[in-house]
Amino acid sequence: MSKIRIEDSATNKAELNEFEQHYFNSYDNYGIHEEMLQDTVRTLSYRNAIIQNKDLFKDKIVLDVGCGTGILSMFAAKHGAKHVIGVDMSSIIEMAKEIVDLNGFSDKITLLRGKLEDVELPFPKVDIIISEWMGYFLLYESMLDTVLYARDKYLVEGGLIFPDKCSIHLAGLEDSDYKHEKLTYWQDVYGFDYSPFIPLVMREPIVDTVEGHLVNTTKNKIIEFDLNTVKVSDLSFKTSFKVEAKRQDWINGLIAWFDIEFPHPKGKKPIGFSTSPFAPYTHWKQTVFYLEDDLEAEAGDILKGELTCQPNKTNNRDLDIKITYEFEAHGTDSKERSKKNENVYLMH
Ligand SMILES: C[S@@+](CC[C@H](N)C(=O)[O-])C[C@H]1O[C@@H](n2cnc3c(N)ncnc32)[C@H](O)[C@@H]1O
Repeated sequence: MSKIRIEDSATNKAELNEFEQHYFNSYDNYGIHEEMLQDTVRTLSYRNAIIQNKDLFKDKIVLDVGCGTGILSMFAAKHGAKHVIGVDMSSIIEMAKEIVDLNGFSDKITLLRGKLEDVELPFPKVDIIISEWMGYFLLYESMLDTVLYARDKYLVEGGLIFPDKCSIHLAGLEDSDYKHEKLTYWQDVYGFDYSPFIPLVMREPIVDTVEGHLVNTTKNKIIEFDLNTVKVSDLSFKTSFKVEAKRQDWINGLIAWFDIEFPHPKGKKPIGFSTSPFAPYTHWKQTVFYLEDDLEAEAGDILKGELTCQPNKTNNRDLDIKITYEFEAHGTDSKERSKKNENVYLMH
């Protein structure tokens, strides 16, 4: 049985910067792949999208960007692709090779170790790109940059990208107990004042599952990307949001999630999934940004503002996010309840 070995990599890991090494090391272990494989919303959406489009996959050359254990490559090969090339920088690709051999796909799937940006593909062009590149808050990990690189270099004119549409959504959230527990803890740590930690806690978006009933405003789609046309520079963006309080309640933070959609045959309902708090669990959960103020909302009050997102300058896989907001309360006590502020966050 042939095996891809460390020394066969098109990229010398030792030459990558410490952040890149750390990033790819995190995918070496099987545990993270187990979590992704067991995320059935994620994995079955890819499988169903390929099956729904099997006429399009038939006899096509497919590139799997970041193939991991090879699951998407095998879905594509099983459902008609002529040949699939799977590329991954992490050592997990050695297991992918074994799995692909074991399942009888070694003549249909070529696996290459290295950064997609460094490998030489056995085909000059591919008809379809498949990739599961999404991170928390959609863009954490910046792997979409690699998919766009692959698109621009290898995808034939009119070729398809699975998935090809994605969007980020925002809403207001009541989370008083957890927020205050998290913050007040630092005011008295075994009798000592640890409050300088509080600004650090506030800077970190929290990735966790949120129960839908805690969302207490309307929701707002803040940005969408079409992978057929989006540029890397579009992934640094500033966008505005506006949501309306649905009931009398505290708004302690904003909750964000993303939706994904695959190409679909004409007349067929597109396959996709949502990581919203109203949809079934995914390993991406939701992302919560605590606001500086706890907003005392009445139904109909407006929370609006701007969200800026860009890769961090030191480690471009991290995200710098800034939220400026204006809370417009209505009624007799509107002056006291209205607030204006901004928070900066580092997603790392
Ligand atoms: C989110 S995992 C998805 C794995 C697999 N496709 C699946 O669906 O289970 C992303 C994979 O992409 C790989 N990856 C990320 N950036 C890459 C790059 N520039 N070149 C090669 N592999 C990359 C990672 O090592 C990781 O295994």
